[in-house]
Amino acid sequence: MDGAQIQGADYEAQYADIKDMDEFYDRIEHLNVVCGWRRDLDGGALGVSEPSSPYKTAHWKYAECKVALAVAAKLISAEEAGRRILNFRNPIEENKLGAARSLLHAYQLVMPGEKAPSHRHTAHALRVILDSKDMYSVVNGEKTLMETGDVVLTPGGMWHSHEHNGDEPAYWIDGLDVPLVKLLQVQTFDLHPDGYEKVDKVVEVSPMRFSGDDIQKRLDGARADGDGYFGTRVQLEAPDIPPLALYIMRLEAGRTTRAFRTNANTSFAIMDGSGTSIIDGEEIHWSRGDIFVAPTWRWIEHRPSADTQMFSMTDEPLMRFAKYYRFEGKDE
Ligand SMILES: [Fe+2]
Repeated sequence: MDGAQIQGADYEAQYADIKDMDEFYDRIEHLNVVCGWRRDLDGGALGVSEPSSPYKTAHWKYAECKVALAVAAKLISAEEAGRRILNFRNPIEENKLGAARSLLHAYQLVMPGEKAPSHRHTAHALRVILDSKDMYSVVNGEKTLMETGDVVLTPGGMWHSHEHNGDEPAYWIDGLDVPLVKLLQVQTFDLHPDGYEKVDKVVEVSPMRFSGDDIQKRLDGARADGDGYFGTRVQLEAPDIPPLALYIMRLEAGRTTRAFRTNANTSFAIMDGSGTSIIDGEEIHWSRGDIFVAPTWRWIEHRPSADTQMFSMTDEPLMRFAKYYRFEGKDE
């Protein structure tokens, strides 16, 4: 008999007096293991044939949140607030922050004359500008306009700031992958040592800004999606934001899109128009500035009542990278 077998026998002897499984579970607790046969404890790791998520289909209304932000602006100073942001929380108990499992969205208000100091963070971010004139952002030393209808990128790790030189309050939708960054526990945040990053150049065209006019031209030159899922759709290239794909969809009034489902988490922000979307049978009635999310594997169908432009953000590239991606369309 060799040493290993003698040691194994000794260990086994420690459990010789165990009478039943409950006692067994108590006695092995210090090993930090989960018995594979206890399906109630394994967190659903195995045994389901379709993706599922406890996250809800959720909808945030611009008109309601805009009023809340305007009221907050009267009650709390810019200095106290830091930033006037209403972050979205998908209303499930286990979730503290985030619109979907991997996506965070927020409405942000910037008052005339306000400036946000330069900062950088691990999370990738972007802004869909709802109402803004004479606002600027500085991203990696490049200063560009950000006005109504624009989409502005602030990729992770890049210094960015903004300033409001106009006369009216500015509102936009933030989009970030903060929940993903938090899941991986890689979140960092730094303020720029100089307060405001030096502006190297002022540019009209930047890979960090898709102007409203540019988006319209690209949509005008694009063909409708032949399968009928997305209306006419263009992708906003964001190579510095690899986990996310960003799309703009143009949907025609009265034309219902063909239903699809994907295991990617997807959000839809209404840049213009109104209508209804059916997410797994649930009706979402939306209008300009609203945003809603479809968690993984929910059937998605849009029924615009007016000509509509939707921004869509999805973690599809991340799913594809990991070879998790699934997509299914409903037969017409
Ligand atoms: Fe930021």
